[in-house]
Amino acid sequence: MGDLLGVRDVTIAYPTEHGAFIAVEGVSFAVAEGEKFVLLGPSGCGKSTLLKAVAGFMPIAAGAMELEGRRIERPGPDRVVVFQEFDQLLPWKTVLANVVYPLRVARGLPAPRARETAESFLAMVGLDRFAASYPHQLSGGMKQRVAIARALALDPRMLLMDEPFASLDALTRHKMREELLAIWETTRKTLLFVTHSIEEAVLLGDRILVLSAGPARVRRILANPAVGARGTEAALAVQREVQTVLGQ
Ligand SMILES: Nc1ncnc2c1ncn2[C@@H]1O[C@H](COP(=O)(O)OP(=O)(O)O)[C@@H](O)[C@H]1O
Ligand SMILES: [Mg+2]
Repeated sequence: MGDLLGVRDVTIAYPTEHGAFIAVEGVSFAVAEGEKFVLLGPSGCGKSTLLKAVAGFMPIAAGAMELEGRRIERPGPDRVVVFQEFDQLLPWKTVLANVVYPLRVARGLPAPRARETAESFLAMVGLDRFAASYPHQLSGGMKQRVAIARALALDPRMLLMDEPFASLDALTRHKMREELLAIWETTRKTLLFVTHSIEEAVLLGDRILVLSAGPARVRRILANPAVGARGTEAALAVQREVQTVLGQ
């Protein structure tokens, strides 16, 4: 099989005053080791709900979700999430301490190893010079880079990203997408990436799962020959194909 993540016929519901609200319905897909897999769909369709279930934050109502054949039941350092919000960092800790902390707590690394690891991942995202800064001294893009460094330093089996660049200005967003591709070239870390941007999906995804408007169902899973290529004819063709699928 070679699949790292298996999602089979998964339904997810929120309890409400009026009964269960179905956010995700009968979704199946599999992510292979080393793959960049994108979940694409309109705002409110259920993307975050699905990602949170993979992260282990949300119970599923039906179906099965497995990482390396083991049922996902709770969060773990094998699946680390980078969120959209800039306030993921602990404001009272320095950049370095923010990356060191989970390495100590979740991975149990001794202090010198944790520090060494944190420093090397901060260097990878180009922030080694800001190790002693505090989060409030950083731009939004820099904070997201720290969050990415912190996630990768934990060496998860899978990196989960929920619209991590959506709150950035357009120029920074473009830069961060390119940087994520470069980081992936170095780490080859399996990526599950959520976005509502067709352009972003086509730039980053080896495969793109197009979800329907809520409840999220699988519209199509597309192989993307234009991954990593910006503005090429191939990329535009995939973008048009995705648009057609979304418009169905
Ligand atoms: N805690 C909650 N309780 C009830 N409904 C929720 C809750 N969180 C999200 N929803 C609803 O579930 C649907 C999917 O939300 P979400 O997964 O956040 O969508 P997306 O990430 O695609 O924008 C939306 O209709 C949203 O209003
Ligand atoms: Mg969301």
